[in-house]
Amino acid sequence: MCGIVGYIGSQQAAGIILDGLARLEYRGYDSAGMAICDGEKIRISKSVGRLKVLEELTHNGETMPGCCGIGHTRWATHGEPNTTNAHPHYNTDETIAIVHNGIIENYLALKEMLTKKGYQFQTDTDTEVVAQLLDYYYDGDPMMAITRMLHRVQGSYALGILFAQHPDRLFAVRKNSPLIVGKSPNGYLIASDVPAILKYTRNVFYVDNQEIAVLKQDQLNFYNIDGDEIEKEEVTIEWDANAAEKGGYEHFMLKEMYEQPKTVTDTLLPRIKDGDIVIDELNMTDDELAAVKKIHIVACGSAYHAGVTGKYVIEGMARVPVEVDLASEFRYRNPILEEGAMVVVISQSGETADTLAALRESKERGFKVLAVVNVVGSSIAREADSVLYTWAGPEIAVATTKAYSAQLIAMYLLAMKLAKVRGKIDDVELSAMIEDLKCIPSQIEMLLGNEKRIQRFANRYVGAKDIFFIGRGIDYSIALEGSLKLKEISYVHSEAYAAGELKHGTISLIEEGTLVTAIATQPELYPKTVSNIVQVKARGAFVLAVTTEGNDDIEKNADYVIYIPQTNPYFMNSLAIIPLQMFGYYVSVGKGFDADHPRNLAKSVTVE
Ligand code: F6R
Repeated sequence: MCGIVGYIGSQQAAGIILDGLARLEYRGYDSAGMAICDGEKIRISKSVGRLKVLEELTHNGETMPGCCGIGHTRWATHGEPNTTNAHPHYNTDETIAIVHNGIIENYLALKEMLTKKGYQFQTDTDTEVVAQLLDYYYDGDPMMAITRMLHRVQGSYALGILFAQHPDRLFAVRKNSPLIVGKSPNGYLIASDVPAILKYTRNVFYVDNQEIAVLKQDQLNFYNIDGDEIEKEEVTIEWDANAAEKGGYEHFMLKEMYEQPKTVTDTLLPRIKDGDIVIDELNMTDDELAAVKKIHIVACGSAYHAGVTGKYVIEGMARVPVEVDLASEFRYRNPILEEGAMVVVISQSGETADTLAALRESKERGFKVLAVVNVVGSSIAREADSVLYTWAGPEIAVATTKAYSAQLIAMYLLAMKLAKVRGKIDDVELSAMIEDLKCIPSQIEMLLGNEKRIQRFANRYVGAKDIFFIGRGIDYSIALEGSLKLKEISYVHSEAYAAGELKHGTISLIEEGTLVTAIATQPELYPKTVSNIVQVKARGAFVLAVTTEGNDDIEKNADYVIYIPQTNPYFMNSLAIIPLQMFGYYVSVGKGFDADHPRNLAKSVTVE
């Protein structure tokens, strides 16, 4: 999604802004621009395409002198991706410039109102309306203009604002779209996402909804929507700045796949104490947990897939009924939440609009929400009643890998805790499970060692048109994620099916040479999945099987086999997903695509 960076301080702003925007490239964008105030005038440069076009246009910012500026990478929503619609946007006399993330829902009504008052518009964007609205309210007092504007606009926004008449100030405000302010030795920064400013500072302030930040070279103040000054807490970001660098890997995605052993360890170990699962963050007593009657897991994309795994594991282990919903469906389906239900939302970014809306919907109905979140201080983390952080660090590649792996661990921990307090597993079983979990990082490491073999296999399939993933039970949840990993970065059409469902229609799509990836890690379901392999083989499929060590007999039916080490069947997903991530990655690389920046996709989806 769009990215915002702004700077005011003792240094030249353009270089810092370009650097910050480069660190937000992973979010996805189609055009970029920046506005710099040189003390008198605001100058804007914008371009379509990659950021390097803007860098070339401005000679890496050198043609835009000034110590105060705002920059933006745009992912088009209103109006096609062209230079005119790219941000920043001016008011008519070019004395106000703004960058905007989000959507102004009432922009048409505002545009009509302003048009009647003689304003003319150059762009198709909702954002230009805000620039003109500020102009309309501006009478020399920028704070007054901003607060009045805030009372008129509806929708979601993070805004960076410059006024030419106040070259010593940068204004920022947000509602339902992330925005932070950073304090560095050389000035203050704004950003829509932490990695943009990590190089300059780890000391940040989270701007809350409808709060206004006023940044000067050596002063920072916050105000509420009425213009009253408020105090904000300074927070230190623990993320290591190197975590947001590629560190010699060709892509962030590859690097993040290799970080999974650490991610799993960091998410797991702090919650294991004296042979027990301790999740203090739940803020629930064992009795309260034992009394939970039903769990609703709500998430999007891969986080939803982690939730599907969670359903199988929690229901299987703890015998608590679990319903898993796509957040975009949950929020509009008037879900039945009954007394004793617990809502769990899962989100890497903590900013996904649909998941945030589902959280709010649940809270409005009086239900407590547990959020499984990766980004500390994100909207979902701040609005949830309790937060179980996945300690994956910054995830830069659009396609999630390490955060998903951490989400799986969170699901297992929750399941084990519930199973224990409900008396469904005893201490001996719990200890055995903990031991299995502790082995997962080294087992992932071992599977990552198969990289070259998987790359060779993937190279055979760069020309594939359709690829199917099948599995039963937990293996089905792995199939869902394996299929998404492949299709989102390689643009190969792929589908995941519960293996038993194939014969109800999908099997007609199988033809000579179609690749079917069959996941068969669950001992009880193994013979059934093998039968499904036989069925697709009979229709000409080429079968790649992912199964556990010891299941050598599968070679009688499958054409290519990837073995994964033994672990508790509930935890198989953490291992089986590794070769599937690698497969998706190498099909993408083999086709010459940029695996980190898949077309049409954004890292955090802050609009519906
Ligand atoms: C796929 C992927 C997406 C996200 C989804 C939810 O690789 O990354 O499907 O999982 O957009 O995002 P978060 O977890 O940030 O809520």
